[in-house]
Amino acid sequence: MTTFLTPASVLAAANKPVGVFDSGIGGLSVLRHIQAQLPQENVLYFADSNFAPYGGRAEQFIVDRALAITDFLLQQGAKAIVVACNTATAAAIKALRARYPQLSIIGVEPGLKPAAALTKNNTIGVLATQRTLASGKFKHLSEQISASTGVRILTQACIGLADQIEKGELQSAATALLVQSYVGPLVAQGADTLVLGCTHYPFVLPLLQDAAHRATSDPVTIIDTGRPIALQLERLLKNHDLLNTSANPGQLQAFTTGDESALKVALSNLLHLQASVALVTVG
Ligand code: DGL
Repeated sequence: MTTFLTPASVLAAANKPVGVFDSGIGGLSVLRHIQAQLPQENVLYFADSNFAPYGGRAEQFIVDRALAITDFLLQQGAKAIVVACNTATAAAIKALRARYPQLSIIGVEPGLKPAAALTKNNTIGVLATQRTLASGKFKHLSEQISASTGVRILTQACIGLADQIEKGELQSAATALLVQSYVGPLVAQGADTLVLGCTHYPFVLPLLQDAAHRATSDPVTIIDTGRPIALQLERLLKNHDLLNTSANPGQLQAFTTGDESALKVALSNLLHLQASVALVTVG
């Protein structure tokens, strides 16, 4: 019998952490899928909360933040980067890939493709930030999907919603009203499938479901791309011999440019995680 030993350099590289970032706590909705799918991976989570939300900001501002955060995560030893933010992906993924052509970088984008496959009446609604919906990347994706599938794609910029979630207002009356004002018109126009095009929005799923029920008695499907992102990360790490195969659970280290205790509370309330959080300044 031949035994193949994994070279020490491969093990050392695989042991390095995955860097995950968002404008704030939205990326935690992606992190929970990464931890479920890849529990052995060490993770660095970066919340750019001092600059959140990104949704109403200029594209170049977001590009500069994404580059500075990625530089920081690489200095901390990240072996791969997950841009756990639709807005940052739309604005900056091209610039990130240009600066780091060898690095495994995974972005998130609104799940139009799965939505087009699931809609029964050929009408889907996309909830996202203004910046994501205004991006060339989204326009291109949306044209491509409607041309190839014939689905009607309705969009709704959810101004203020990521902010409510950052504040921890996941169930307040104000957040419920805001959600109703965004979901209602999409459903009234016939959308039977709603795409969550912002990683913050899965944290108000009950409010989204409730708003859809108020608007129609027909079933409405809601699409979150957290799990597909985790699966894509797994594939990429495998392909690059970077998958951590240790038997031990991975460690989480969190960083914020905002309030450390707010991120600690969010990690505990949303993911039941107790992690050390460091306040950092980047860029
Ligand atoms: N979580 C973000 C996204 O997926 C950004 C929300 C914001 O900062 O406006 O788009």
